[in-house]
Amino acid sequence: MSANLSVTFTGIRFENPFMLASAPPTESESNILRAFEAGWGGVVTKTIGLHPVVNVRGPKTKFFRTDVEKPRISMQKRPNAVLHSSWNWELISDKPIDWWLPRLARIKKEFPNKVLIASIMAGSGSDREYQHWQTLARGCQEQGVDGLELNFSCPHMDREDMGSNVGKNERLCNEVARCVTEVAKIPVWVKLTPATTNIVYEARGAFDGGARAIVSSNTWPSLPVVDPETLEFEMNVEGQVSSGGLGGPAILPMSLAKMAQMTQAFPDKEFSGIGGISDFSHALNYFLLGCGTTQVCTAAMLDQAIGPNVIKTLIRGMTEFLEKNAHRGWKSLEDFRGLKRGAIVPHSQIKRPDTADYHGGYDAEGYAEQPAEPSPARRSKEA
Ligand SMILES: Cc1cc2nc3c(=O)[nH]c(=O)nc-3n(C[C@H](O)[C@H](O)[C@H](O)COP(=O)(O)O)c2cc1C
Repeated sequence: MSANLSVTFTGIRFENPFMLASAPPTESESNILRAFEAGWGGVVTKTIGLHPVVNVRGPKTKFFRTDVEKPRISMQKRPNAVLHSSWNWELISDKPIDWWLPRLARIKKEFPNKVLIASIMAGSGSDREYQHWQTLARGCQEQGVDGLELNFSCPHMDREDMGSNVGKNERLCNEVARCVTEVAKIPVWVKLTPATTNIVYEARGAFDGGARAIVSSNTWPSLPVVDPETLEFEMNVEGQVSSGGLGGPAILPMSLAKMAQMTQAFPDKEFSGIGGISDFSHALNYFLLGCGTTQVCTAAMLDQAIGPNVIKTLIRGMTEFLEKNAHRGWKSLEDFRGLKRGAIVPHSQIKRPDTADYHGGYDAEGYAEQPAEPSPARRSKEA
């Protein structure tokens, strides 16, 4: 019997839990059709806005590579270097909503059993902007898409009322989610920025506003490095650069930490994991934390633009994993989803050597009473 990779996530049935994330792999009809043919269970479109955007001159994405023998991270192409991360400063889709709507309908008609999610974005804080969200939501859902993903996560928006600036504000997360769910007849997912102090607050705002799932993470705010010879940023336009987003292998552990905070705070809610996935062992981390689907961007960009080999590897990896664990009675993702969520505990609960005990460093343990040497900072103050 072949392994059962299918999942139901926010009420939507997926033939497998692997999706292409909102990004260049899903920026066109032809890419999305190719992705479905290649085997992806679903795709999230490149983020659609009401108005066209204008990107910077020159490349919008490059890849950091690290040398095998030297501690060097650089975007320069060279032999014996391996992928470290992607860096981009690309805005949302440069095609307006009117370009997208007929294409969404055609894609869904051609692949009715694949999952098509429309990523949308508008501003916040005013009735006018909330109407924009509702126009986008209604427009996409009328074309038959399966769900909506609200982009509260783009890290390089100038507008204070858009992208990750919404995702850093619990109240705005709540207001935008609420205004979209008022008109949505299909599940609404919220994609949060990881650039917050405690992502649990923003997730709570979105869930209270009616979001069915949280998607995390988008890219992390970051800069290209400076070339030590030319003293120019490795990516720049006429010498100038702006904060962009880091994706790919480098962000896997960081994105897992954000995801763990949320799946622990909301164990009964649904989550889609993104960040640094290129094979099943990476996706497995998100599933073990409680995610019901995962999404991929950087690895797919580097594999014929839509990741035909990446999806094969993911499907093969999950099939083999289920076969290997059949003796435990595992038949599908539900049998191992969330298994490691409880293994993440406060530092003080981690076992110490048998002779020592530690409860978090509070006064009662004697830490504050230690006469000890004055700290270097105190010594210099007293001098
Ligand atoms: C060039 C580029 C463009 C992206 N554009 C979008 C976008 O329009 N909307 C969005 O929600 N995320 C966007 N992302 C973020 C990805 O969907 C994804 O969250 C991020 O790259 C982390 O996944 P990865 O480690 O697999 O790359 C973009 C990423 C890249 C590299």
